[in-house]
Amino acid sequence: MNQTAAVPAAAPTLSVPALSVRDLRKTYDGGPNKAGVQALKGVSLDVAPGDFFALLGPNGAGKSTLIGIVSSLVNLSAGSVSIFGIDLARQRDAAMRMIGLVPQELNFNMFEKPLDILVNYAGFYGVPREEAIRRAEVELKRAHLWEKATMMSRTLSGGMKRRLMIARAMMTQPRLLILDEPTAGVDIEIRRGMWKTLKEINAAGTTIILTTHYLEEAESLCRNLAIIDRGRIVEQGPMKALLAKLDVEGFLLDIDGHLPPSLPVIEGTTLMAADDHTLDIEMPRAMDLNRVFASLNEAGIRVRSMRTKSNRLEELFVRLTGENAQDSTVQTTPEQVA
Ligand SMILES: Nc1ncnc2c1ncn2[C@@H]1O[C@H](COP(=O)(O)OP(=O)(O)O)[C@@H](O)[C@H]1O
Ligand SMILES: [Mg+2]
Repeated sequence: MNQTAAVPAAAPTLSVPALSVRDLRKTYDGGPNKAGVQALKGVSLDVAPGDFFALLGPNGAGKSTLIGIVSSLVNLSAGSVSIFGIDLARQRDAAMRMIGLVPQELNFNMFEKPLDILVNYAGFYGVPREEAIRRAEVELKRAHLWEKATMMSRTLSGGMKRRLMIARAMMTQPRLLILDEPTAGVDIEIRRGMWKTLKEINAAGTTIILTTHYLEEAESLCRNLAIIDRGRIVEQGPMKALLAKLDVEGFLLDIDGHLPPSLPVIEGTTLMAADDHTLDIEMPRAMDLNRVFASLNEAGIRVRSMRTKSNRLEELFVRLTGENAQDSTVQTTPEQVA
């Protein structure tokens, strides 16, 4: 008897990453002395199927370059990309069929109707018209745009236009949805609406990767993330593990009058005089501020107002890259700054 016949063929396992990138490098022509711009300097990452994954980093970090390569819009200089186990270089078309892309800029015809935009897009990818109309209804309803299906797209609100971009990308039923800064520059209400839509899409089984420079966006959406800075991944892992690293908070306290010559000692905090009437304090995020105020009060120090010293994402970047991120364009959302 042939014993090897009993061994089952390797089944396609669930553990094949939705996206696998190995030592990806990209040098654009140009740059100083025409030496080229090294946008990616050896990036490797895996995104598990079903994941909601953020690629977080400041402007110029290389996020769009990475997304561009994965979606075949940009040629790589070196390295490899596979999508659900399909090598992008060897089987480009098959790999591309797995992907839906939502670019940062609105790029549909404002003089077309949402329904037509979706149906024509699917048609371009070979979906028969009847099937395309069926799918368009599903996607427009999911995007809360069904009532707007036959209105001129130009008349949609900003948030609706963004959701239309997502609905369009979903028309090919991608297993991997990639969004490049989907909410950059949109107000918080629109952003929240988009988050809801994206969560629903992810919950229904589509793997999602998005790039963002909003920490809060990554925080509220993503299970895993990679932080990219100047063409390199500087941190990668579960969102929760990363947030644990952000457990220290810095404040500047404006004091009534002058600070005493010797400052009180408050356990668990680091207290410094920034100047004669400003206290610089660092403390664990979980620590009770009232305790700090009480101790200061006891020492005769009255706090007039307080400011957060730096926003969390800046803090994070300072820690990860060992450099001052003030000059980069990393942002937190308005409510974080407030
Ligand atoms: N087409 C291009 N030609 C030359 N340089 C580019 C091009 N696209 C991007 N770059 C440069 O590559 C680096 C990474 O850019 P990009 O991938 O757009 O970053 P991000 O999306 O994170 O803001 C930047 O220094 C940028 O100026
Ligand atoms: Mg970009």
